[in-house]
Amino acid sequence: MNKKTAIIVGGGRSLGAYLSKHLAQNGYDVAVIDLDGENAASVAAEINAEGGRAVGYRCDATDESAVIDTFAKIRAELGNIYLMVYVAGIAKSRKITDFELSDFNLCVNVNLTGYFLCAREAARIMIAEGTRGRIIQINSKSGKEGSKFNSGYSSSKFGGWGLTQSIALDLAPHGITVNALMLGNLLNSDMFRSLVPSYAKKLGIPEEEVVPYYQAKTPMNRGCEFSDVAAVLTFYASEGASYCTGQAINITGGQVMH
Ligand SMILES: NC(=O)c1ccc[n+]([C@@H]2O[C@H](COP(=O)([O-])OP(=O)(O)OC[C@H]3O[C@@H](n4cnc5c(N)ncnc54)[C@H](O)[C@@H]3O)[C@@H](O)[C@H]2O)c1
Repeated sequence: MNKKTAIIVGGGRSLGAYLSKHLAQNGYDVAVIDLDGENAASVAAEINAEGGRAVGYRCDATDESAVIDTFAKIRAELGNIYLMVYVAGIAKSRKITDFELSDFNLCVNVNLTGYFLCAREAARIMIAEGTRGRIIQINSKSGKEGSKFNSGYSSSKFGGWGLTQSIALDLAPHGITVNALMLGNLLNSDMFRSLVPSYAKKLGIPEEEVVPYYQAKTPMNRGCEFSDVAAVLTFYASEGASYCTGQAINITGGQVMH
């Protein structure tokens, strides 16, 4: 039997690229999917250069036929699809009175609809092959608590939690588990940095004080690191977590406790 395959949707950069490499180092064959096909290919090339096995795929996770085609290709080329991690996400930050419908729709499409489409395809294949697999969504603490100036992001991430619970119920009879990881702020990420000007405005502080502000809000007094996410992901992907499903697991340094 070939190795287990992990599909990382949104694996072309940042957290997704880190998790792709982490899973390769932990013995998975990796399918790196991203809207940016060049990034997906270069992450896969790095994994292959280090002795792993990976293939990069350009795919828009919000496009139904593209998702169906890409998952079929991965099934044919790598096989044994055991884990699907939905990392793709987008954040647009504005006060509700200035929030464009197009930005709201983009958040819902990428953060929620894309997760639905990829989870559905993964589930279809796992059921057809009798695989007791794992579906994991990268969510956010903003999927549990509203977030000022983040109506599109927060509401779509809340939706992801409901989707996680519902799919978990659908798939429990097949032994497939579905969980969401609710991250604290990845203070070193491009996504967080892109939000700094808007956060400075909402907090009424200079931009250079935004990162220290968010750090101090966390009981552990630091931001969430990619390695924190990888460690928890490893457990929820493992056989040891086979009795955990429908959960929204906080990785927030104590900032969220419910
Ligand atoms: N950055 C943070 O502070 C933070 C905090 C909590 C949760 N998160 C979540 O972690 C995840 C990763 O965040 P990040 O900071 O690495 O984001 P990022 O924007 O740096 O990377 C997201 C990746 O997803 C890809 N992507 C976007 N739309 C896509 C689509 N339609 N189809 C396929 N791929 C698509 C992008 O090309 C990119 O490679 C997201 O789900 C985000 O909501 C991030």
